[in-house]
Amino acid sequence: MALRLRAMRRTLKPTGSIYLHCDPTASHYLKLLMDALYGRKNFRNEIVWHYRRWTAGTKHFQRMHDILLRYTRSDKFMFNLQYEPYGDWIKKDYGYVDKETGKRWRWHTVKGRRYKVVLEDENRGVKLNDVWLINHLGSTSKERLGYPTQKPLALMNRIIKASSNEGDTVLDPFCGCGTTVHAAESLSRQWIGIDISKFSTGLIRDRILHNFKYLNGDDIDLRGTPDSVGEARSLARSDPFEFEKWVCGYIGAEGMFREPGERGADGGVDGVLKFFPVREGKKVKPEYAIVQVKGGNVSPDAVKALHETVRRYEATAGVMVCFSDQLGTVENQRVKATFSDAWGSYPVIQGFSVESLLGDEQLDLPLYGYKRRGAMLGL
Ligand SMILES: C[S@@+](CC[C@H](N)C(=O)[O-])C[C@H]1O[C@@H](n2cnc3c(N)ncnc32)[C@H](O)[C@@H]1O
Repeated sequence: MALRLRAMRRTLKPTGSIYLHCDPTASHYLKLLMDALYGRKNFRNEIVWHYRRWTAGTKHFQRMHDILLRYTRSDKFMFNLQYEPYGDWIKKDYGYVDKETGKRWRWHTVKGRRYKVVLEDENRGVKLNDVWLINHLGSTSKERLGYPTQKPLALMNRIIKASSNEGDTVLDPFCGCGTTVHAAESLSRQWIGIDISKFSTGLIRDRILHNFKYLNGDDIDLRGTPDSVGEARSLARSDPFEFEKWVCGYIGAEGMFREPGERGADGGVDGVLKFFPVREGKKVKPEYAIVQVKGGNVSPDAVKALHETVRRYEATAGVMVCFSDQLGTVENQRVKATFSDAWGSYPVIQGFSVESLLGDEQLDLPLYGYKRRGAMLGL
C-alpha cells in the first residue's frame, strides 16, 4: 500500500489532491501512513461518508460510515467550496421575507441591540461540511452494474467538483467498474483509470461508450488488454480465466466472479447479459442471455450444452463467444429456434466471434445495450 500511495504522490501535480477511501477498521493506520508520505501539514479533511443500510449486529452501534482522507500535494492546492441546499430549518430561522427584495431575514441580538440579518443567496445553499450523507446504490438503482463494490456517482461527483476544474486530469488507480471515470467524463475532466482486472477495464469501456455517445472506441486508449486478434489469442492461451473476464466485460455481460479455487466450476455460465425485448401490450421487462466463452476449439457437445444451460436457467438466449474459425461448429450444431419481439426475431443460440467483438459489432439481441448493465441470476 505504501508504495502505491507514494507512487500516487509522484503523479499528483502541485495543486492536486488525493482522496483515500477506507473503512474505520483501517483509517487510523492509513492516516499515519499518509501523514508520513504526504506530510501532516497537507492533511485537509477526514470526511465521514455516512449511509443508511440494514445491519444485523446487536452488540455494537450500527456501522454506517466509511472514511475519506483528503490530502493535498502542497499548500497551494486548488479547492472549490461546495454547497448543499438549505434544509427546511432555514425558513424557520430566517422567518421574515423582505417585500421589496424577496430575501429572507431574521433578527439577531448582540448586547441588547437588534440587528437585521439578511440571507443573501438562498439558492446557493450552505457550505458543505465533512459529514456526507450519500446512500449506497440500492438493488434497483438505475446506476447499478452488478459490481460488488460499486460507489455512487454522487460521491465521486462531489470529490471531483471540489478538487479539480474542467480539463484537469482525474486518476483512479483501483477503478473497479469505473464510477470515477464516469463522473470525470460527465464533468468534462480528463481521466485515467487503472485496474488489475481485465473484466473491469472492458466493463468500463462499455459503460463509457454506452453513456457518452459522442465518444467512440478510438477515444479510449485501453492498455494491457487485447486490441488485436493475435493478442486475444495469446491471452486465451496464457490465462483462459482472464480471457473470459475480458470478453464478458467487453460485451457488457456480468461476469460470474468465481474465486480462483472455483475455476472451471461455472455450470456452463461465464457471464449473463441483460436485454429488453419489446412485446406488444406488455411492460418492457429484462430477459437474460447466458454467455459462454471459448478461447480454443468449440466442440459440438459444448454448443448443445449451452442450449441445455439456457433451458436450465430459464434464460431466453445463449451466446457462444469464440474465434471466427470456430463459428462453423456453432452454426452447424446450434438449435435453429428463434424468439421474437415487436422489432424482429433473434436466434435462441448464436455464435459471436472475438473478431466481431474487437470490431465493436453488436450481438443479435433485442434492445441490447439499452440500459445495459449487469444481470443477476440465482446461480
Ligand atoms: C473496491 S474496488 C473499486 C470500486 C470502484 N470505486 C467502483 O465504484 O467501481 C477495488 C478494485 O481494485 C482492483 N485492484 C485490486 N488490486 C489491484 C492492484 N494491485 N492494482 C490495480 N487494481 C487493483 C480490483 O480489481 C477492484 O476492481
